[in-house]
Amino acid sequence: MSSSSHQGAGPHGGPAPDPLFTNSAPHGKLSLGALVRGPWRWPLTGTCIVLALLIGAGGVTIAESPVPLDQWLSSPIASYILSEGENPHPVALIRPPALPFSAMAQLGQRIFFDPSLSGSGKLSCASCHSPAHAYGPPNALSVMLGGPDLTRQGVRAVPSLMYLERQPNFSIGPDNDTNETVSITQMVAASQDTSRTQKTAQDTAATAANLVPQGGLFWDGRADTLQDQAVFPLLSPFEMDGGSIEKVAAKLQHGPYASLFVQLFGPSIFSNPRMVVAEAMFAVARYEIEDPAFHPYTSKYDYWLEGRARLTRTEMRGYILFNDPAKADCGGCHLDQPDPDGQPPLFTDHQFEALAVPRNPALAVNRNPNYFDLGICGPYRTDMAKDTQYCGLFLTPTLRNVATRHVFFHNGIYHNLQQVMDFYDFRDTNPEKIYPRGPNGKVEKYNDIPSRYWANVDVIDPPFDRKLGEQPAMTAEDEKDIIAFLQTLTDGYHPAKGH
Ligand code: HEC
Ligand code: HEC
Repeated sequence: MSSSSHQGAGPHGGPAPDPLFTNSAPHGKLSLGALVRGPWRWPLTGTCIVLALLIGAGGVTIAESPVPLDQWLSSPIASYILSEGENPHPVALIRPPALPFSAMAQLGQRIFFDPSLSGSGKLSCASCHSPAHAYGPPNALSVMLGGPDLTRQGVRAVPSLMYLERQPNFSIGPDNDTNETVSITQMVAASQDTSRTQKTAQDTAATAANLVPQGGLFWDGRADTLQDQAVFPLLSPFEMDGGSIEKVAAKLQHGPYASLFVQLFGPSIFSNPRMVVAEAMFAVARYEIEDPAFHPYTSKYDYWLEGRARLTRTEMRGYILFNDPAKADCGGCHLDQPDPDGQPPLFTDHQFEALAVPRNPALAVNRNPNYFDLGICGPYRTDMAKDTQYCGLFLTPTLRNVATRHVFFHNGIYHNLQQVMDFYDFRDTNPEKIYPRGPNGKVEKYNDIPSRYWANVDVIDPPFDRKLGEQPAMTAEDEKDIIAFLQTLTDGYHPAKGH
């Protein structure tokens, strides 16, 4: 193995934004070559790495590459990288350009914060998508309360509205951009001939050839544009409960910012209620796109990628585990590398997976034993009800700002990251720690998906490739360190101040 294939200038003149680890390492192995690339230009010879320069007086240590992670972590080079905490291979990140905040976006902002549009008069978009909580839920309730008197429980956890500006449209296939003229039925037909390949943090090429559902908005991908999407909560009886298009339009017509509508859309706008609401929703979408608060890319990890911040030893170890296909492998789905254009990572591959998180007894809908939220195949999305191979699949969310949340997964089953980590660690090796026991004393594994769809559950991507009784993918310390890494994904870090 040589390091030369990983060098070269990136598209914007900086160093190439290629992964910290190479793709060429066999499963379960990390390639040292990738880790030691970068500004120091350590001498690499054949499959061996001479660490003399690195450890100076410590003498010459020669390590075989690649080596298993555990072994690597105890090597001198690992302790150097962990203790320095620097990105050995900084990249130039391209953040979204600062757009002028248009009159349209300003109108959208007012709508976003306007509770008078709701049936109760008390709920605005911001009540559930709180700006002080990464535009996610302001509390630890599994689902928010809405409806006419704010007592009706929602059915799903409130996602963050951040980092949706690069969300692709819903599609089934290897490519996000080329499916526009193909119907979903055709896409499904095409995907039936392909078998699913394992995806690991090291091998995103395998996923590219994989025909899988991806993109869209909501946990089930049922809306494509921020504009289409906004009308759902506005009218939904358990959310803003706005009543009808006509009612909402009348409120906008007689509200404090009615003159902005006339300015932007002309005096005849209020003669057509549908147009009023459509334009209002377009304005909200512009607000979400234009306001940099929705996509600042100012986490410690972003600055670390650029070589402007150091990770602590714990964060660094968590990051390595996050990417280790023999361990947590989170990076296989929650992509953490800049894209080829140098755009910062979104921590999602925008694909859908059935992880089979436990049923949440806190949800009122779950009192009905025949009710199941099956994501893509319904009940809230109706166009793919017959495509049962997608029952139980939900969209992979971004992990940016995830440490600010108090509710996790589509059904809000968990309330801290420790519980989330335990789920990933023990789902298959120790299901008794994750799922409840039934009346017969048996552990009810995958209890939120009817057994006829269990084949859809992901049991091949690490860390889900373990079997009952096998060694879990992570130790308690591994879990703790990954949580420390997840905390570096919170926006608002100041590289100069170091916090
Ligand atoms: C009562 C709480 C509540 C209110 C009020 C609310 N939402 Fe939501 N929002 C949710 C929930 C819950 C979801 C996830 C629903 C699903 O996946 O089916 C969601 C999803 C979204 C999404 C998709 C996010 C993603 O990651 O896919 C967007 C965009 C959004 N809401 C925007 C808005 C806008 C704009 C408003 C105001 C017009 C609004 N919401 C009002 C609860 C709310
Ligand atoms: C096979 C793909 C896959 C892998 C591997 C994976 N995730 Fe996820 N992750 C998902 C999907 C899909 C969801 C949403 C599932 C749902 O709600 O039913 C999710 C949800 C989450 C959430 C909840 C976020 C929120 O806003 O509710 C966290 C936190 C998370 N993952 C962290 C991790 C960590 C840490 C790892 C590594 C131990 C990991 N994930 C590995 C696909 C994956």
